[in-house]
Amino acid sequence: MTDISTILDQNQRWAADRAAAEPQFFSELAKGQSPKILWIGCADSRVPATDVTGLGPGEVFVHRNIANVVAHTDLNCLSVIQYAVEVLKVDHVVVCGHYGCGGVQAASGDHAYGLIDNWLRHIKDVIASHQESLDALDDDARFDRMCELNVAAQVANVCATASIQSTWRSGRPLSVHGLIYDLKDGRLKDLGLTVSEFEGIPKVFRMA
Ligand code: CO
Repeated sequence: MTDISTILDQNQRWAADRAAAEPQFFSELAKGQSPKILWIGCADSRVPATDVTGLGPGEVFVHRNIANVVAHTDLNCLSVIQYAVEVLKVDHVVVCGHYGCGGVQAASGDHAYGLIDNWLRHIKDVIASHQESLDALDDDARFDRMCELNVAAQVANVCATASIQSTWRSGRPLSVHGLIYDLKDGRLKDLGLTVSEFEGIPKVFRMA
């Protein structure tokens, strides 16, 4: 079992090793951050943004919650997006889901979990709007597809935010991507959902 003294010990070793390998590493990072990517992922412990992308400290701005949901009433997520896009000026926003997502699985069932049911409602809405095509699939394929559809819905939600649209309007290049991670083999897959301009989103979500 991992306890706090273990992680503190590991941290001492990591910091010493890192400084030995690259003496300026911490002093450079302490000056500030300029990541080029905002990662919006699931809170699942098996999908750490830096590890699976081969990126390190300073290279990716991260927001994670249960089932990588981007809700237009979530001040936390919206604040992260605004700061990343308008202040850090990231070039890419990545929504990364994963197959086998417990949040998506919970949302697809009828069990009541309490408070979290209100969060899962965002995913239930996605499932409900694709119910017919999902019902045509077998159980495994349906679960996989629900995870993919959730990523697509959250990519669309990112694109509907004022921060993304004001950046596009300013002419600064910014792309929103949808990826999915496979827990079984550690591979990321591009779902081909990339949006880089107003034309990529439904008219009703475009703001003047
Ligand atoms: Co998950």
